[in-house]
Amino acid sequence: MAPRKSNSNNNNRHNSSNNNSVNQEPQQTLTDDMSVDYNKEELTENTIESYNNNLSINDKTSADYYFDSYSHFGIHEEMLKDRVRTKTYQNVMHKNNFLFKNKVVLDVGAGTGILSLFCAKAGVKHVYAVECSQMADMAKEIVEANGFSDVITVLKGKVEEITLPVTQVDIIVSEWMGYFLLFENMLDTVLYARDKWLVSDGLVLPDTASLYLTAIEDSEYKENKIEFWNNVYGFDMSCIKKQSMTEPLVDTVDQNQIVTNCQLLKTMDISKMASGEASFTAPFKLIAERDDYIHALVAYFDVSFTKCHKLMGFSTGPRSRATHWKQTVLYLEEVLTICEGDALVGSMSVTYNKKNPRDVDITLSYILNGRRCQVSGTQHYKMR
Ligand SMILES: C[S@@+](CC[C@H](N)C(=O)[O-])C[C@H]1O[C@@H](n2cnc3c(N)ncnc32)[C@H](O)[C@@H]1O
Repeated sequence: MAPRKSNSNNNNRHNSSNNNSVNQEPQQTLTDDMSVDYNKEELTENTIESYNNNLSINDKTSADYYFDSYSHFGIHEEMLKDRVRTKTYQNVMHKNNFLFKNKVVLDVGAGTGILSLFCAKAGVKHVYAVECSQMADMAKEIVEANGFSDVITVLKGKVEEITLPVTQVDIIVSEWMGYFLLFENMLDTVLYARDKWLVSDGLVLPDTASLYLTAIEDSEYKENKIEFWNNVYGFDMSCIKKQSMTEPLVDTVDQNQIVTNCQLLKTMDISKMASGEASFTAPFKLIAERDDYIHALVAYFDVSFTKCHKLMGFSTGPRSRATHWKQTVLYLEEVLTICEGDALVGSMSVTYNKKNPRDVDITLSYILNGRRCQVSGTQHYKMR
């Protein structure tokens, strides 16, 4: 699996007002030893996956987890402790029993089985909980320990490869969202399951996801992260600076840093969209709300469960309670001097990487024709 939670470009900035200790990222680092081993054997991701699947949890070393991070409980602990995320799913299921009563549910990427357990408590007829990592073994134990073995069937394997004991399901539940919404590309797995098993009037939960963009002042952190490479103990390492500019930073942003309005880039209807629609180009117009400098654009997403009795969902934006997704910061090469009322216009293109469709390529084009600054640029970023 491409590990959502081990993106090497995650950081915890010190000026965050969204301090939430449960949202600290466990950093997974590739040691020298590990990189030597994998380079020598020239393992592909598939051979590593099959190797991992043949290992028991107790046989695994940190090298195995590097490529199969969802088998380790730490990632699941982090997700479960993200209360914004997990409580929202729980509330959706427990406050909307009318949606779930006697329904057959497919849990796509069940992890510990938490969403299946919520569904079981909500009175469903049966849940098929599909999980491809070793965590499926734990999910089976958890289901048994909680007395739900007659309602929840855990299936270990990839959604794209397993055989379901039923031909149709009424509801698909999944927590598939990655950093920048699309990193990791689990959405395609949900769409695959929807097209294969969901009844024609069935539900996909959540059913909408939207991506937003805003602009921030971030001189201190840009200096620390990017300009740092200009002079490292007196040496010019600016070749690394170019590379670091292309990697969006997953980090929490203080809402006081926001300089412009927030612009909706794209809304996806998970119940109807085609897989290709996750790649898009969207225009934006960000109007400055005060005189300031802009160092970066910031992307974040929200998800909604529109079929609930009352609209439910959560946002990962800088003005909302922090989640483990934080926000995604895209630094600009130029520092923009912007006056209140000036418009920063442009477009953002988002595509899955051709070599590794779990990665995301982003192209940002912008023009500022402001009172004190006229500048335009195009920058390419890679979520890896
Ligand atoms: C973001 S986690 C969510 C886990 C759990 N549903 C929860 O909410 O805590 C996504 C899970 O989907 C699993 N997964 C990803 N792609 C999958 C696939 N194609 N087939 C089966 N499981 C998959 C991962 O191993 C991971 O455990």
